Amino acid sequence: MNILVTGASKGIGNAIAKELQNIGEIFVTGRNEQALAACNAKGFCVCDLSKDINDLVKFIEENNIDVLINNAGEYIYSSLDSMETADIQRLYQTNLIAPAYLISKAIPHMKGQRWGRIINIGSISGVMGEAYASIYSSSKAGLIGLTKALALELAEYEITVNTINPGWVETELGMNSIEDSDFSRDEILQCIPQKRFVKPEEVAKLCKYLISSDAKGITGQSINICAGLSVGI
Ligand SMILES: NC(=O)c1ccc[n+]([C@@H]2O[C@H](COP(=O)([O-])OP(=O)(O)OC[C@H]3O[C@@H](n4cnc5c(N)ncnc54)[C@H](OP(=O)(O)O)[C@@H]3O)[C@@H](O)[C@H]2O)c1
Repeated sequence: MNILVTGASKGIGNAIAKELQNIGEIFVTGRNEQALAACNAKGFCVCDLSKDINDLVKFIEENNIDVLINNAGEYIYSSLDSMETADIQRLYQTNLIAPAYLISKAIPHMKGQRWGRIINIGSISGVMGEAYASIYSSSKAGLIGLTKALALELAEYEITVNTINPGWVETELGMNSIEDSDFSRDEILQCIPQKRFVKPEEVAKLCKYLISSDAKGITGQSINICAGLSVGI
């Protein structure tokens, strides 16, 4: 089984690549070549998803990807009216347009063999909305719509499509988002019902389950892993 993880150079993507090492051949992508080379993967492709992604498309086609995990993402904390158009475009490109495009290039092989798994890493911000992160929230909400529609389109080929929505995860992106906000780490923890941050490994283990044959009936779903954040206070 050939598995491609985007944004595997650090954080959640890196944990996913490690967790899945023993269930298939791992292929990774991201911008940081040194970190990708250290992933011990079968192959890697350096690619900035906000720019020209043709090399990555070729990489997908050459390596017969059976499992695509769209994990790479960028977060910007800002009021909408003070955002630059270029930043809005870059964020949508990285978080939503590139994942859709990569899926479109991975599915011909999956359809051909009548099996595949597509997992998108969304965010609880795409489920609930997050003030001062409207472009990020809407990019992640877009993944949920994409997931539902594609799950219907691909169901007859035994290809499942799901989105995992993490709450606050202990990674560079997660902790920087707290630094950028008006809240302290402790104030954020107080808002989370379990009073803890989710660990990248928890997201990775959920990916492993979604790839397994036990999860073949789970498709089109948006699964929150947020330590209770989405339920209420
Ligand atoms: N941490 C959280 O609290 C949290 C919560 C909800 C959802 N998420 C989502 O989980 C995913 C992973 O986040 P993380 O917390 O692990 O973040 P992270 O530690 O900052 O890692 C982000 C990864 O995405 C890659 N990436 C970012 N922009 C890219 C671009 N333009 N082109 C190619 N690769 C790019 C980075 O690659 P390089 O390092 O090589 O540049 C890195 O590997 C994201 O989609 C994020 O939105 C995170």
